[in-house]
Amino acid sequence: MNVIIVPNAEEMGKQAAQLIAAEMKKTSPFVLGLATGSTPLTLYKELIRLNKAGEIDFSKVSSFNLDEYVGLPGTHDQSYRYFMNQNLFDHVNIDKARTHVPDGMAKDPTAHCAAYEQMMREAGGVDYQVLGIGSNGHIGFNEPGSSLASRTRVVKLKESTIKDNSRFFAKIEDVPTQAITMGIGTILDSKHAVLVANGANKAEIVAAAIEGSVTAWVPASALQFHLAITWVITQDAATKLKGKY
Ligand code: F6R
Repeated sequence: MNVIIVPNAEEMGKQAAQLIAAEMKKTSPFVLGLATGSTPLTLYKELIRLNKAGEIDFSKVSSFNLDEYVGLPGTHDQSYRYFMNQNLFDHVNIDKARTHVPDGMAKDPTAHCAAYEQMMREAGGVDYQVLGIGSNGHIGFNEPGSSLASRTRVVKLKESTIKDNSRFFAKIEDVPTQAITMGIGTILDSKHAVLVANGANKAEIVAAAIEGSVTAWVPASALQFHLAITWVITQDAATKLKGKY
């Protein structure tokens, strides 16, 4: 497990983008695993810059997002499909037909989850997985108590997550209560992963995940089993770490 501590969110995005870019240059076709949320925004900004500068090419890239709210169509401005179009896909030379986000409107969500796993397998698995961490330790929407071997499935969101995400909705009642998420086992199958974290509100959970016991009650602690993960953390999110990095 590699930990890089950086001064600010801009630097976090740049460092994480460099890690991904280095692998993208070596591997074609390339499969990206993607996250939403506010933390990866500087990373996506940097990937867009590198693409426009001709340093990385998305023409042979396919992508699979971690999660999506159940009940929101891709046209809804709080859906994760909409977020990805706005913050990455519309600005790089990726073929949108090869970008995958779980379908929050799927008629048979369980069958959809199984098909999503199958599509990832057929694509050869995720080469580089982007992750953020929730203040309760979730990765994707794998809330505390999720099996560390879990696969893509429908989950109920915890109150703390609904509260965290209510800032993006007009009122808390508008936040969906269920989501489709890749499982922790699915995430651990990725060949490389980068977890970005910034802000003092993440300091406790970052330390618990990196230096605490592996437990389903801190889902991100399962990443201690990942063979090729880099944590890129801002100084304010790294204040509770005891080790020297
Ligand atoms: C979203 C996802 C979530 C977020 C987490 C942190 O696709 O995977 O686990 O990474 O909720 O969100 P932010 O970055 O908004 O603090």
